[in-house]
Amino acid sequence: MKGWALTPRLRSAAALVRQDAVFADVGTDHAYLPIFLLTDGVVRFSYCTDINEGPLASARRNAEAAGLLSRTEFLLTDGAAALTDKGVSDLAICGMGGELIAEIIERAEWTRDKRVNLILGPMSKQAHLRKYLYSRGYTVLKEAYTTDAGKHYVTLLATYVGECREISDTEAELGLISDGRELSPSSRDYLLGKARSYEKSVRGKELSGAAAGDEREVLAAIKGLLENGIPEGRV
Ligand SMILES: C[S@@+](CC[C@H](N)C(=O)[O-])C[C@H]1O[C@@H](n2cnc3c(N)ncnc32)[C@H](O)[C@@H]1O
Repeated sequence: MKGWALTPRLRSAAALVRQDAVFADVGTDHAYLPIFLLTDGVVRFSYCTDINEGPLASARRNAEAAGLLSRTEFLLTDGAAALTDKGVSDLAICGMGGELIAEIIERAEWTRDKRVNLILGPMSKQAHLRKYLYSRGYTVLKEAYTTDAGKHYVTLLATYVGECREISDTEAELGLISDGRELSPSSRDYLLGKARSYEKSVRGKELSGAAAGDEREVLAAIKGLLENGIPEGRV
C-alpha cells in the first residue's frame, strides 16, 4: 500500500465506519484499514487483532512506520470475543469467508447490541452470512459493491436489532439488491458477475443431470433486476 491508499474493496469498508468510532479490525493482517482510518482522522484509536503471529507482526510494523503505535493495540486472538468490554462501536471483519465471519460474530456475544456496527467483507459464502445475520437478529443496513482487478466484492454494514427472521435464497444471494435497494453502477457490475457464475452453475448441473431449480430461480431474479435497469440517481 503506497501512502496508505486503500484498494476499492477496503475503501468501501472504510466508508462505512462512523466518525469518532471506537474501531476494531479482526483479521487485520497488514492493518491497512485501521491505518487509513487513523491517518484520515475518522477514528482516534484502533484495536487490531489476528489469529496468526506473522500478520500481527506485519500490522505492528506498518503501524509503527505510520507513527501510530500509541493509537493502536494489537491482540493475538481468535475472532472478536477478546474485544468484550473494550467499548468497540464499529467492528470490521473483512477478507475472510462468509462462514468464518458468521462464526466469529456468533462467538462475540457483545456484538448483539444495537449500538455496535459490523462492517463485513465476505470473500465467499455471502448468502450464508446474510442468512446467519437475519436468523440471529441482525439486519443489514447497507451494502457497498466494488470491482477490483476484475473481481466483484460486497461489503455489508450490519447491526443487531433483536428480531430474528428467515430470508429466501434469492434475498440471501443478492442482499439488498434483491428488492431494488442499493442499486448503483457498481452493484450492476456485481450482478453481472453473479449472473455469469449462476449461468455456469446451471449449465454444470444440467450437464450432470442434477436439478438446478434453485439456481435458476436466483438467475431469473438477477436477470429481472438487470433488465429492469438501474434507476437514475440510485446509489
Ligand atoms: C486475507 S487476510 C484479510 C486482511 C484484511 N482484513 C483485508 O480484508 O484485507 C485474513 C486475515 O485473517 C486472519 N484470520 C483468519 N482467521 C481468523 C480468526 N478466526 N480470528 C482472527 N483472525 C483470523 C488471518 O491470519 C489473516 O491475517
